[in-house]
Amino acid sequence: MKLDFTDQVVIVTGAGSGIGKAAAMDFAKAGAIVVSLDVVGAKECADEIASMGLRRRGHVMDVRNAAAWSALVGALVSAHGKVDVLVNMRRRGARRHRDRCLGRDVGQK
Ligand SMILES: NC(=O)c1ccc[n+]([C@@H]2O[C@H](COP(=O)([O-])OP(=O)(O)OC[C@H]3O[C@@H](n4cnc5c(N)ncnc54)[C@H](O)[C@@H]3O)[C@@H](O)[C@H]2O)c1
Repeated sequence: MKLDFTDQVVIVTGAGSGIGKAAAMDFAKAGAIVVSLDVVGAKECADEIASMGLRRRGHVMDVRNAAAWSALVGALVSAHGKVDVLVNMRRRGARRHRDRCLGRDVGQK
């Protein structure tokens, strides 16, 4: 069965890697406007989607930041009039992985 998400606005957290990235790719291939969020790799995910000629917006964003959510959703509603789907694939407890990627000392936490 081929799913059709044409023109639907889909936010994917944890889109920088793993299942979140795979979900972001699949929603983009199904016609969605994918908003990829992650602390690491969000832009790269969006760039990969764009390189396939598909629609995307990539945001480096910590999903624990309430003000960032308000700003993001406000911007999406202004631009597209809606948000259709939220896929929450951010891995809880992924701080060590994130810090390692950002070159931070992970031994202190
Ligand atoms: N991989 C599996 O086998 C499996 C099995 C069952 C459930 N899950 C669940 O699926 C989800 C994704 O798993 P995965 O293996 O793809 O994980 P992953 O570690 O590959 O990806 C998780 C992403 O979340 C991002 N992230 C972490 N904290 C963030 C924050 N505060 N703000 C924004 N982004 C943040 C990380 O940078 C990372 O890119 C997790 O919730 C996991 O528990 C995974």
